Amino acid sequence: MTGKPKNRKSHSLRRRVPKRRAQAPLREALLMIDRLGSKGDGVAPLDGGEIIVPGALPGEEVRVSHNAQRGRVEEVLRASPERVDAICVHYGACGGCQTQHMRAEAVAAWRQQSLEDVFARAGFTDIRFLPVLTSPLASRRRARFSAERVKGKVMVGFNQRSRHEIVDIPDCVVLHKDVLAARELIASMVDLLARPEVPRFSALVTLLENGLDIDLVGREEDSLSLAQREGLGALLADSNVVRLTLEGQLFFQKEVPLISLAGFLVPFPAGGFLQASREAEMALQDYVLENCGGGPALDLYAGCGTLALPLAKTRAVHGVEIAGGAVDALAFVAKHHRSRLKQLTVQARNLEQEPLRPEELAKYETIILDPPRGGAAAQIREIAASAMRHVIYISCNPKTFARDAKVLHAAGFVMGAVQLVDQFRFSAHIELAACFNRG
Ligand SMILES: C[S@@+](CC[C@H](N)C(=O)[O-])C[C@H]1O[C@@H](n2cnc3c(N)ncnc32)[C@H](O)[C@@H]1O
Repeated sequence: MTGKPKNRKSHSLRRRVPKRRAQAPLREALLMIDRLGSKGDGVAPLDGGEIIVPGALPGEEVRVSHNAQRGRVEEVLRASPERVDAICVHYGACGGCQTQHMRAEAVAAWRQQSLEDVFARAGFTDIRFLPVLTSPLASRRRARFSAERVKGKVMVGFNQRSRHEIVDIPDCVVLHKDVLAARELIASMVDLLARPEVPRFSALVTLLENGLDIDLVGREEDSLSLAQREGLGALLADSNVVRLTLEGQLFFQKEVPLISLAGFLVPFPAGGFLQASREAEMALQDYVLENCGGGPALDLYAGCGTLALPLAKTRAVHGVEIAGGAVDALAFVAKHHRSRLKQLTVQARNLEQEPLRPEELAKYETIILDPPRGGAAAQIREIAASAMRHVIYISCNPKTFARDAKVLHAAGFVMGAVQLVDQFRFSAHIELAACFNRG
């Protein structure tokens, strides 16, 4: 356990009990579903507009109870041939998955169409897709649970879709078993720490090489009594947790939390980024290795080195990243595993405010970018203005990816086939990767 952190303001108590909006009374309607929306929900015409009907498929006739925006399926009167039984017992109640009621082919077709629509809006009409690389069931090594103590009982799970209520998910099919098992410990921690005015918590759980890394959000260490600190310490001493942070502040650490990336054991920083499944991490590494030139490479938004480390075994790599913890982790590997690396250098830099300029880019043969959801607008402008010829762009947001691709296209880059990596099984989220080259 750590000592009391100094000079931190406590906002915890005031914002814990969320406001519940007054619900308008629901109406009933019979609807014909027209199409699937961007999140995989059915969309149906109603009263001159459209409403969203989760769990309904195009061509289906459904009886729903609804408000102005959303309908809940009460009965499927005519089912689509694309409808299948969900494989998870929590499906429908739990908001974690959205597409289990569709045949896999229908999901693939819907996904491709939604991506084509996004790209078409950015001016791309002839996108080619490589076969999707899908992570297996029970492979998600990172999850954010919601937890709440209500009437003396603690629930730990995911929120219902667009709602506040938590669904317990003991049989979730997407989470790694060790992440799923963490729910019990989280329930004990929340039972210990919850108060009437602070009933609700969230817990980000990440499965590392030497245990679970948990960030519990709900109460800061300063607000805990001595008995609560001791109780928490006892729970953790007996667990497979390697680190617990409370609202991002270190509370407990058994040993240095480690993640293995490309065969290197990397000290994993609190709050660090990790691809959601090991299989997706390896798929992205393979993609980058296959498409990267043999000369010096620049890994922008490098995180802890998922992409930089496999490349740096055989070519010089410079990683750039904003988060100090990730930069330190990568610098640690560069220093302590020098003999296994051709060359690895690291730089802390905010690429939105201070993107690498064309003269800095000129040292490299290939640029790899893997930005957060907002994309890499400022950096892409510099790449477009440079003489660079080879870019590998990985993204978790098709909209910002297409926006940035349009800038590269206008600067003479040609986009290759798009590789999809489905590491968020049964959700609307998808990872994309593509190469951009110009002569
Ligand atoms: C999607 S993650 C990719 C990390 C890494 N490539 C991986 O696969 O593990 C995006 C990374 O960008 C970093 N980042 C976010 N905003 C940034 C900025 N303005 N400048 C530099 N890095 C940033 C985040 O800290 C995070 O590590």
